Amino acid sequence: MSDTTIESILQEHRLFSPPADLAAQAEIQGMAAYEQLYEQAKADPEGFWAELAAQELHWFQSWNQVLDWQPPFAKWFVNGKLNITYNCLDRHLTTWRRNKAALIWEGEPGDSRTLTYAQLYREVCQMANVLKQLGVQKGDRVGIYMPMIPEAAIAMLACARIGAPHTVVFGGFSAEALKDRLEDAQAKLVITADGGFRKDKVVPLKAAVDQALANNSVPSVQHVLVVQRTREEILMEPGRDRWWHELQAGASADCPAEPMDSEDLLFILYTSGTTGKPKGVVHTTGGYNLYTHMTLKWAFDLKDTDVYWCTADVGWITGHSYIVYGPLSNGATTVMYEGVPRPSNLGCFWDVIEKYGVTIFYTAPTAIRAFIKMGDELPKARNLSSLRILGTVGEPINPEAWMWYHQVIGGERCPIVDTWWQTETGGFMITPLAGATPTKPGSATRPFPGILADVVDIEGNPVPDNTGGYLVVRYPWPSMMRTVYGDDDRFRRTYWEYIPPKDGQYLYFAGDGVRRDADGYFWIMGRVDDVINVSGHRLGTMEIESALVSHPAVAEAAVVGRKDPVRGEEVFAFVTLERSYSPTDALKAELKQHVVQEIGAIARPSEIQFADALPKTRSGKIIRRFLRNLASGEDLVGDASTMEDQSVLDQLRQGS
Ligand code: WT7
Repeated sequence: MSDTTIESILQEHRLFSPPADLAAQAEIQGMAAYEQLYEQAKADPEGFWAELAAQELHWFQSWNQVLDWQPPFAKWFVNGKLNITYNCLDRHLTTWRRNKAALIWEGEPGDSRTLTYAQLYREVCQMANVLKQLGVQKGDRVGIYMPMIPEAAIAMLACARIGAPHTVVFGGFSAEALKDRLEDAQAKLVITADGGFRKDKVVPLKAAVDQALANNSVPSVQHVLVVQRTREEILMEPGRDRWWHELQAGASADCPAEPMDSEDLLFILYTSGTTGKPKGVVHTTGGYNLYTHMTLKWAFDLKDTDVYWCTADVGWITGHSYIVYGPLSNGATTVMYEGVPRPSNLGCFWDVIEKYGVTIFYTAPTAIRAFIKMGDELPKARNLSSLRILGTVGEPINPEAWMWYHQVIGGERCPIVDTWWQTETGGFMITPLAGATPTKPGSATRPFPGILADVVDIEGNPVPDNTGGYLVVRYPWPSMMRTVYGDDDRFRRTYWEYIPPKDGQYLYFAGDGVRRDADGYFWIMGRVDDVINVSGHRLGTMEIESALVSHPAVAEAAVVGRKDPVRGEEVFAFVTLERSYSPTDALKAELKQHVVQEIGAIARPSEIQFADALPKTRSGKIIRRFLRNLASGEDLVGDASTMEDQSVLDQLRQGS
């Protein structure tokens, strides 16, 4: 967020109304319609969601209570029975959508594949039968560690079809990180590929799985199912490892969707927090299906003729909610792309838009800033006139990047839907509705109907407009996370007690700073905790510190985010060494590599500074605020008098 400071956004007064032709055909037209929905949902949230759930989803059995709220634990559509894959697949087969493209996939080396709803249904059913055959039962957890290929989506849906919660681990995470997640989830089976293509290189995914499972270190895992993608030589452990294509060939395509309770676990997705290990965010079936369905439909004004492309990876919540479940539940055509802009093909995104006539394009600010640096020639060399709506997610978008996106990619005719949400929220929380909400560059605008978002101080008192405070939500919503997997207490502490409940009212604490302006528009200021956002990827500073101190040379480590014009933030680590080690460049390189091994390349520190000591309070707490200032080369902000040893700062300033 290069220039998203309070000062710069306070001066942001530009307002862009949805184009008249788009607004005239939108599902939700104009602000009056939005206000009316918002007020209706606020007055009777349960009635609001119940009506939509009955209208938009297929239920095998209706619920007998809309919401059971025992703070901080919510149940939605109690005793309702459904299967999200029935809503994503089966119900479209009896309509003209049967032969509509469900998934359009473009591979990095230039191969491609389109699956109609009928074809996707068939493959999902076959895979569901394969999972059963390998002993996976309703309730068993399945790990998915895959490149961006159709089989990743098929694997997720196959799990959901038989009621086996999936836990997708981003293919960029290391073997070590994969092991932690499989262990925490007690996965029974892992689905992977021989490898994946990433930036002109082959990522050896199966080898990482082998390493994660070496010496039977995750005994819950009984089988590994392997998709053939790169055709590199890999080891197949007899008895444990099986080829996807071999089992698929013999599998029946008849697999009725398992009736799931609305509150049955759909998936676990690990994300970084302030403290400790990554936490398993738990999402359940009914509320998640409804909320991802509705938010995509209204915010992006999804039409049957749209070709919708979200550039995220299925390893993140954006991929779960808005590549797979949200689009398919709506019967949309969703594009999946294996590649990322790389030296050999910088313009690949624009090629994909032109090739498939993409109408809705949803990406991250860090990507947009990288495109700006690559120059306007690349997008201008392609025909992008099919685009009608643009979206952004992952971090605050600076007004300059917003304007470039609007002008160069959107040709000044596409609304920009800036969606604020989190792994924990399941779906968009604060977002424009494309056909209704006038947008302001840098603002995620107004809360989605049913979302009682607010700005409060640390005690939970509302703050006046334009002052800034903590972003909270005052009422449960259908796709909210249900708990931290296996740790209700951590769930309660992290999200619901950070701001103490008052008069029995619990506030969901998001971890973001925010300001609301006089028009009720929200301006997200970024994380207020020790979570940093590198290229839209969320990393806990503690996690990286633990990785560093697990190296024998490191005595102590403190990690902070340093502002970066393209990536938002980058990882900056201060390290003190054990006595017997010397501060060399070779050691810096080794430590960076060590972090890659422990977590993955996304966590690699951009810079490591060795220090004799770290600034601490008299009670021994590292003063990160100062380290953040030092990393960014800024003047120190705040009072240094609580410091134990003032000379530490001088030494750090001279730095190495
Ligand atoms: C954090 C959540 C939700 C999918 C991607 C990230 C930041 C997300 C925005 C936005 C400003 C944003 C917040 C949030 N964030 N979207 N539109 N404007 N900040 O999911 O990894 O769970 O990270 O991303 O800081 O708390 P996540």
